[in-house]
Amino acid sequence: MHKLSTIKAAILTFLSFSYLVNGFAQKIPVNYDESQMPAYILPDPLVLPNGKLIKTKEVWEKTGRPAVLKLFAENVYGVNPFPGSIKIEVKVKAVNENALGGKAVSKQITLRFPEISPTLAVNILLYLPKNAQKAPVFVSLNFMGNHTATQEKDVFVTENWVNSNFDKTFVNNKATDASRGIAERRWPMEAIVSRGYAVATAYYGDLEADHAEGWKTGLRSVLTPEQREKWSAIGVWAWSMSRMVDYLLKNELQIDKQKIIAVGHSRIGKATLWAAAEDPRFAIVISNDSGEGGAALARRWIGETVEHLNTQFPHWFCANYKKYNNAVAKLPVDQHELLGLMAPRPLYVASATKDVWADPKGEFMSAIEAEKVYQLYKQTGLGTTTMPPPNTPVGQIIGYHIREGVHDILLYDWQQYMNFADKHFEIK
Ligand code: GCU
Repeated sequence: MHKLSTIKAAILTFLSFSYLVNGFAQKIPVNYDESQMPAYILPDPLVLPNGKLIKTKEVWEKTGRPAVLKLFAENVYGVNPFPGSIKIEVKVKAVNENALGGKAVSKQITLRFPEISPTLAVNILLYLPKNAQKAPVFVSLNFMGNHTATQEKDVFVTENWVNSNFDKTFVNNKATDASRGIAERRWPMEAIVSRGYAVATAYYGDLEADHAEGWKTGLRSVLTPEQREKWSAIGVWAWSMSRMVDYLLKNELQIDKQKIIAVGHSRIGKATLWAAAEDPRFAIVISNDSGEGGAALARRWIGETVEHLNTQFPHWFCANYKKYNNAVAKLPVDQHELLGLMAPRPLYVASATKDVWADPKGEFMSAIEAEKVYQLYKQTGLGTTTMPPPNTPVGQIIGYHIREGVHDILLYDWQQYMNFADKHFEIK
């Protein structure tokens, strides 16, 4: 009895703490109690705007998919003002034939977009496993600069704005040499290249700093106010991932161009899902703890809500998304339909047990619902509707695990992603 009440008190303290962090500060209530959640009806990805049911993959591809994609662009992630091919200037700034203790070759490449801006650039750090001829490659943005993903001294320190709240080594929103390797736990590069995978990463803030005024020095600064409002920071980050793919496809590299994997954590997980929805060149898609505005169902009133997102991060989504702050039932899509846009590509959704703000159950349920679209391709999605225990991956064309622990991306997660990619790419 005594023990139970202690546990209860601990839970209540934790909940009120998250309420303080995420709730009172914004005066938006936070709910973690399933019994308090109002009932909701999810939109059906297989029902066309005219009410007709989609029964074949042909109709889905011709009519259903473009309609859902458009709804997401217009209401959530924004309309990309630069569709089509983009002129890219490539500059290889450094090559290290003996990176990661001799296990890899590293390349640092700058991409510029002369027709859009003379100064904006995406700076890629690419690790290629030393002896692989055709390595599958993970494309993933990082939160704090390439130099934070590794201790390697030759990796350039980002000169772009960084969030000083993210780390004490950041001074006045500038990264310093002292921040080398601070995010290493999220980037187990040696373990990845040892399994024959390449990694291409870039700082997510290269084309738009992550704050409300970030657009002023970023890619959206070249747009008209109307275009800018219609797009979003997440749209820009997703766009940068597609430019990384342009580079990987157009250059002579020891990678397998059919095996490009999009992976991202949290807000970058949201951008990753959107990147892969827009860009079919990503062959596998992985969402790590992407939560609200990512894999989690928006209509579930658990943890973060659309209103929290738009209040704390007004620049992340397009202006229209704010219309749904207090009217999520009117949102013409929900996030399972975003997952459905990945079909028939293998998709992996991951959660963490302590990441209640991201609503792990909502992420899992979204993955279940996405199966409807995969069934048009005669594919089994998760193959289960029971949430697995921690650290127990499940699924077929859609994979899922809930890692024990906090909101993060760790070696355990990467190992599951490589196992999943090995299986679907038939790598022995
Ligand atoms: C905040 C935000 C989440 C986001 C996370 C992150 O917690 O509310 O939506 O996923 O930051 O990017 O780490």
